[in-house]
Amino acid sequence: MSSPQTAAITAVHGWLPEDILSNADLEKMVDTNDEWIRTRTGISERRILKDPEKATSDMACEVIKGLCTQRGITPEEVDLVIVATVTPDMFFPSTAQLACHKAGASNAWGFDLSAACSGFLFALRTGSQFVASGTHSKVIVVGADKMSSIVDYTDRTTCVLFGDAASGVLLEADASGATGIQDAILRSDGAGGQYLRMQGGGSLNPSSHETVDNKLHYIEQDGRPVFKAAVTSMADVSYEIMERNGLTADDVSWLVPHQANLRIIDATANRMGVGRDKVMINIEKYGNTTAATIPLCLWEWRNRLTPGENLILSAFGGGFTWGSIWLKWAMEPEA
Ligand SMILES: CC(C)(COP(=O)(O)OP(=O)(O)OC[C@H]1O[C@@H](n2cnc3c(N)ncnc32)[C@H](O)[C@@H]1OP(=O)(O)O)[C@@H](O)C(=O)NCCC(=O)NCCS
Repeated sequence: MSSPQTAAITAVHGWLPEDILSNADLEKMVDTNDEWIRTRTGISERRILKDPEKATSDMACEVIKGLCTQRGITPEEVDLVIVATVTPDMFFPSTAQLACHKAGASNAWGFDLSAACSGFLFALRTGSQFVASGTHSKVIVVGADKMSSIVDYTDRTTCVLFGDAASGVLLEADASGATGIQDAILRSDGAGGQYLRMQGGGSLNPSSHETVDNKLHYIEQDGRPVFKAAVTSMADVSYEIMERNGLTADDVSWLVPHQANLRIIDATANRMGVGRDKVMINIEKYGNTTAATIPLCLWEWRNRLTPGENLILSAFGGGFTWGSIWLKWAMEPEA
């Protein structure tokens, strides 16, 4: 590489709807129980964006505004916004355009990126290239999903899993390369697509009475093959990024895993040799918020992190998609 310049996280912000959907609430909606949900997934409650007038772009807008406030910049100073989501407001215009407009980021270009639960990692990798190459100085990467808009609340196998949220980071250059994104391994395999998908509304199955009658506008998941692939792939790639960079478990300050299932998180930590005390876990409060889980963890833990700490961000999701990013934290805790 000609330049050591890296993309460092210089602000982190999250946004959560106020309404809580608890396991007790779900017990009244489908044939399930709190004990099953907690032991099989680790989830106790999730947040739901109930306002019918609000969509993913509204959550992403709050994140863009929050990041700018935290960094002391105006939205006009942002160059690029990437929104990772599988619940865009609509096919087009993109959620990134709508969110930038609402936030007043009038000089930014932007686009949506679809990689399901790995969306934030794919977007972070993409956004970091624009910063590391020097073509852009302020890039925002948001993971935002209003999962409640595509969840079938009569299907107990999926409705207990997901919640709504948005979170994201501001990326700026570290000319020395001492902090920021150091390495990334990202993978995908479309053969897994059949196990986790939403079939309706696209060019294969355009929306019709029939697609709605057949519930194709909802998430459909065959949980067991997804679980099996997630446990192996997320653990393997997390170990691989450590190994190829000569990092031991002691070198890793935090594992920041996608929050889909506590058992998948534990399998990943075990493979890395990292204890639970070094794993960011908030699945209990928010469930699986798809592209938002990883930055939501970074936001909640931000005041426990110090510059130079090694973080491994790992995810697995629909596609299949999966990957790990190794970064060195750049921000001082807030006073
Ligand atoms: C969905 C998931 C939690 C199910 O857990 P599991 O241990 O695999 O459970 P199974 O699917 O084997 O189902 C076991 C039983 O529980 C039942 N069950 C499923 N959901 C239930 C619920 N909410 N409440 C009570 N019982 C439930 C099933 O019907 C099944 O009953 P059966 O044996 O009579 O058929 C798990 O497969 C999973 O986490 N998969 C990955 C999901 C994921 O991460 N997706 C997002 C992308 S990363």
